Amino acid sequence: MLSLEQKIVREGTVLEGDVLKVGSFLNQQLDVDFLMEMGNEIARIYSGDNVTKLLTVESSGIAVAVAAGAIMHLPVVFAKKNKSSNISSDVYSANVHSYTHNKDYDIVVAKDYINADDKIVIIDDFLANGKALEGLIEIVGQAGATVIGCTCAIEKGFQGGGDRLRAQGIRVESLAVIDKMSPDSIEFRK
Ligand code: G4P
Repeated sequence: MLSLEQKIVREGTVLEGDVLKVGSFLNQQLDVDFLMEMGNEIARIYSGDNVTKLLTVESSGIAVAVAAGAIMHLPVVFAKKNKSSNISSDVYSANVHSYTHNKDYDIVVAKDYINADDKIVIIDDFLANGKALEGLIEIVGQAGATVIGCTCAIEKGFQGGGDRLRAQGIRVESLAVIDKMSPDSIEFRK
């Protein structure tokens, strides 16, 4: 999505540790008009796929998923992050390891909100190592539902998570894929 690539170049800052700061439109302040543009693009990607529900994880993924949900007229379910391992039987859950934050957490979704006949698109803000997506895919599997595809706003391609999932046959269509970045330049996958 060219307009997203241009916005990342204009407003993003590359920090130490391969972290891209995009607080001006995605992670702190939300550029709602631009979110709706991203929502439109997600709707275009999955038009004709008979998607029934969007699934994301709190917190920053929710904004992107809501924008897509508004355009696609679909409900958005968000997994909650749970520090305790006290998981009840009425939820689907998966353990996620975050390399960025070097910690593990559980994500949980109440069983009421995903059904076996759901066709789901998973949405998030960033795709780095792919562990959050893997956890969400596991939850969809526990429900017996179908993953139609996964879309993240910004994929850090050089961290390999997206390509690992693609190699497993999962449809991953990120809106912008960064192949290389430094404080001076950002290169996008063509
Ligand atoms: P993974 O799911 O792809 O394996 O990624 P990882 O655990 O490494 O990322 C953990 C958190 O860090 C996620 O947010 C992710 O969105 C965020 N993140 C990863 N790389 C970047 C980056 O370059 N820039 C920014 N701004 N965020 C990044 P989270 O902890 O779940 O937080 P939030 O969704 O509540 O904001």
